[in-house]
Amino acid sequence: MATPDPAPATSNITVRRGDPLVVVTDVEKHYGDFHALKDINLTVNRGEVVVVIGPSGSGKSTLCRTINRLETITSGSITIDGKKLPEEGKALAALRADVGMVFQSFNLFSHLTILENVTLGPMKVKKLKKADAEAEAKVLLERVGVAQQASKLPAQLSGGQQQRVAIARALAMKPKVMLFDEPTSALDPEMINEVLDVMVGLAQDGMTMIVVTHEMGFARKAADRVVFMADGQIVEEAAPDDFFTNPKSDRAKDFLSKLITH
Ligand SMILES: Nc1ncnc2c1ncn2[C@@H]1O[C@H](COP(=O)(O)OP(=O)(O)OP(=O)(O)O)[C@@H](O)[C@H]1O
Ligand SMILES: [Mg+2]
Repeated sequence: MATPDPAPATSNITVRRGDPLVVVTDVEKHYGDFHALKDINLTVNRGEVVVVIGPSGSGKSTLCRTINRLETITSGSITIDGKKLPEEGKALAALRADVGMVFQSFNLFSHLTILENVTLGPMKVKKLKKADAEAEAKVLLERVGVAQQASKLPAQLSGGQQQRVAIARALAMKPKVMLFDEPTSALDPEMINEVLDVMVGLAQDGMTMIVVTHEMGFARKAADRVVFMADGQIVEEAAPDDFFTNPKSDRAKDFLSKLITH
């Protein structure tokens, strides 16, 4: 039987939401001699949820870190809502506020209460009054289901609760896009869903999200598009169902077969 011609990698993308919000064009990133990102082109539209998957070392974290300028790029350009990423200074702080980031390790300030963790950014960067910042923080803590813990220190919370606080803290800056880099991979299995549920809720509320995760259930439920990376390149992108049931590239087939057997 003849194998059908592989379709172009982008042919299965049916959902396109608003106008382009994050536009990554011809991006190259080197760490010294190491070529970590190769000719990356990716547009994430307003309200779109993009899941990035790929083997370890493929450049997923590097891509996230360049989008909020934790890493510089060697060449190419990245714009957020039409604005080029600034080099430094006040403009960079403003850009960081536009791009919320949640990491694998929760990164809460251990000496601050949960409430203080969430109010710090809005008070320092957005110059909100304490009372206003606290009122907004309480709404967010309620939304992620940890309002009862507001006066505790991070160490007094479970990992899943801490990660939900980290999400609330990022949301407190009213970001235009949220980046998640393997937000559940440091969690015990029973806590993964409580964090994914918050993320699904955010997606349903229309938040623009770029999510590095191997949680295929989340991808199927919430993603408009799956981007598969290998060796610093975007190898394939497709709607989640298409990607998981009918991966085109050998790299993606190989990666998915390993995911399923583990
Ligand atoms: N600061 C750095 N200096 C040098 N090389 C780096 C640096 N950060 C990342 N790299 C290299 O760049 C490549 C991509 O790393 P990255 O962390 O982006 O991969 P990843 O896809 O997120 O992997 P994982 O699934 O393990 O998190 C890896 O080979 C890594 O060793
Ligand atoms: Mg990573």
